[in-house]
Amino acid sequence: MRADSASSATPGRPAADPPVRVFESQATAAAAVVDEIVAVLMACRAQHRRPVLALPTGGTPVAIYGELLRRQSEGLELQDLVSFNLDEFLDLPDGHPGSYRAWMRGHFHGPAGIAPAAAHFPDAATAPADYEAAIARAGGLDMAVLGIGGNGHVAFNEPGSAPDSRTREVRIEESSRRANAGLFASLEEVPARARTMGIATLLDARALRMVAFGAAKAEIVRRALEEPPTPEVPASLLRGHRDFRCFLDAAAASRLGGAKAG
Ligand code: PGA
Repeated sequence: MRADSASSATPGRPAADPPVRVFESQATAAAAVVDEIVAVLMACRAQHRRPVLALPTGGTPVAIYGELLRRQSEGLELQDLVSFNLDEFLDLPDGHPGSYRAWMRGHFHGPAGIAPAAAHFPDAATAPADYEAAIARAGGLDMAVLGIGGNGHVAFNEPGSAPDSRTREVRIEESSRRANAGLFASLEEVPARARTMGIATLLDARALRMVAFGAAKAEIVRRALEEPPTPEVPASLLRGHRDFRCFLDAAAASRLGGAKAG
């Protein structure tokens, strides 16, 4: 499979087809995603406004945050970023180390120097409608960066999520709870409820960048990208967005037939 290095298309440019970009490694894919994030930061600063990003947690974005921080050490400015996380657990005590807030502080917000006031989470203290209102007040999402769950979820929009869903409380599927067990001492401790941006919240972002790594994601990536869009594979609903791109390593792309690299 050909690795794509021509990843510098103009952010915000409408895409005729959902472009799928395949890279030899996670590191090269993450660098390409970061190129696009940096282009958003630059474009927003040129317009004298703060960049507003929807950001994910999980295994997939670790390389992306690592690359952003590496570039920060070379001079990239991140401190003006306004961050809205895709989702957050309910039913955890404040400050719990398994929360996505804690994860983000450790992996990105802390080292990047992003103030807690600019790091938003759809947590128990924030009514879902207030989260949507905060995004709107910030000017809307310039870009949403997201992974895909093994069951096709995006954020915590589990299978069955409606295309017009907004920020709301959801039940976390067992497979998704298991995928999060590493954040907790045991599977029993993983909350069963979360709050998440909805599919419509994501579709309102000016750009969507979905990222998947590893062979374990290959089949759900194929379903999300190549089968008819359906709420049963929530990620497939994002293909209707005018500026949707998917960044894959070769293993995650290994079941794709129709979609071409680059
Ligand atoms: P992962 O999760 O990056 O940990 O695989 C992706 C997701 O559930 O969105």
